[in-house]
Amino acid sequence: MSEPTHPLVPQPCTLVIFGGSGDLARRKLVPAVYNLLLDGVLPPNYAVLGNGRTPLSDEDFRKTAQEGIAKYSRQKFKEVIWPDFSRRLFYITGSIDDPKAYKDIKARLERIESDLRLPSNRIFYLAIPPASISAVVEGLRYAGLVQPPTENKPFSRIIVEKPIGHDLESARHINDTLARVFDESQIFRIDHYLGKETVQNLLVLRFANSIFEPIWNHKYIDHVQITVAEAEGVGTRATYYEEAGALRDMVQNHILQLLCLVAMEPPYSLDADVVRNARMEVLRCLRPIVGKDVEQYTVRAQYAAGKVHGADVPGYRRESGVKPDSTTETYVALKLFVENWRWSGVPLYLRTGKALNKRASEIAVFFKPTPQILFNANPEAPLAPNILVMKIQPEEGLTLRIICKVPGTKAKTNPVELHFQYGEAFAAPSPEAYERLLLDVMAGDTSLFMRRDAVEASWAWITGILEGWKAYGTKWLPEYTAGSMGPVEANRLIESDGRSWRTL
Ligand SMILES: NC(=O)c1ccc[n+]([C@@H]2O[C@H](COP(=O)([O-])OP(=O)(O)OC[C@H]3O[C@@H](n4cnc5c(N)ncnc54)[C@H](OP(=O)(O)O)[C@@H]3O)[C@@H](O)[C@H]2O)c1
Repeated sequence: MSEPTHPLVPQPCTLVIFGGSGDLARRKLVPAVYNLLLDGVLPPNYAVLGNGRTPLSDEDFRKTAQEGIAKYSRQKFKEVIWPDFSRRLFYITGSIDDPKAYKDIKARLERIESDLRLPSNRIFYLAIPPASISAVVEGLRYAGLVQPPTENKPFSRIIVEKPIGHDLESARHINDTLARVFDESQIFRIDHYLGKETVQNLLVLRFANSIFEPIWNHKYIDHVQITVAEAEGVGTRATYYEEAGALRDMVQNHILQLLCLVAMEPPYSLDADVVRNARMEVLRCLRPIVGKDVEQYTVRAQYAAGKVHGADVPGYRRESGVKPDSTTETYVALKLFVENWRWSGVPLYLRTGKALNKRASEIAVFFKPTPQILFNANPEAPLAPNILVMKIQPEEGLTLRIICKVPGTKAKTNPVELHFQYGEAFAAPSPEAYERLLLDVMAGDTSLFMRRDAVEASWAWITGILEGWKAYGTKWLPEYTAGSMGPVEANRLIESDGRSWRTL
């Protein structure tokens, strides 16, 4: 196996989780640290300090952590490891709106660091409602908890969860708030899709194999489809979702980042900013969808009552917490263009939605047909195209569709699929996205995180669509039955170009 040329080393540190009593901490963050320990990749010395208003003792926090690990961890709970892991978990009660809480956190951190002989490297994870980002950033500054980035000095880093704003203006506001206290190199805007194995493999696939890059352009690629399908409805997240919708919730961050990895030019090195510059160039090349364009290039819809996996799902506007006349989209499909040399004239179709017939995320690259001679001579029955599909979830892997001869005396052909699955090819299950990303923060590697300019460029593009929808909106959105693959309008979007969505 070959290793990257410049692996960064995770440093001993304390992970301070604001929102330590919340869902993300219990389901993802603490189990991620635990798995890193089991994999032997965590720095030798570390601590976790949770914070929330809920009054918890260290012991309560350790108990919640143990339950979270037992339920959600990738690897099984191991009794022998637990005593050493749990003695490094701490909790401090306090409101992030109270300046005094930060002084208390500082004092507690100093005690933990002294007891465990830890350097004062600190990572502040903001697993809190986005409206509270500013309060925490100011609180950290007020308590003197943020050190400027200086080589060979203890570091202060901050991790910010999505959503970063709900439009360009609010995203700028959050970024300005962060920039007043932290240097950009200290800010890690997390998009957990970038931590997924297949997503990281996209760069390897494209730039470590000689067979793909020569055909990765408008001469050979007919079009690209990116799908993020969810089987769940809005569930308990109605309050957030009503204000967000599918475009903000999925396209602005995850799907545009996937698009960047598919479409980017080869970076000249794996240095964080070189890779991030290459991704950023794609966002700069997106053809704007503004004003009346929204009618031609976008489809939005809401789910109507139906069944998903046999269970009844009410229509979106009947879900608890949703306005009966809501126009929030639970499904969006887009047709877009990356206006540069490589992608000239190649449409990229994106779709994402809730309450669909299955959960599946994938990127499918459709190649152009062979000339209409030999095996593709019959215009009435053209050969199926070659398709490279990168599967992101639930299973991670890829398939390549090729045309094969059917055994026998006739020259009959049939499409077949070559499969590669991570779980089968490599014995160990892939680490969870949060594991990889937390380790990167401990090592100071920002490659898989969103830089300020990228967040704002994607919001600028998305805001054009949002404004178009506002100007040319309708009172009622089209509907699709829960448990279906989406609205007929989305089929029309792609079928009017003589193409069709891949069946998931
Ligand atoms: N859960 C996920 O899978 C997920 C995925 C992606 C992104 N996110 C993002 O991550 C963030 C947290 O999500 P979550 O699901 O963990 O939410 P959650 O379960 O509602 O937890 C929110 C946390 O914030 C704390 N909090 C809120 N106000 C506070 C205050 N004034 N002072 C101190 N603590 C306060 C709460 O602690 P107390 O109640 O104890 O005060 C709680 O620990 C959100 O921005 C969300 O969008 C979550």
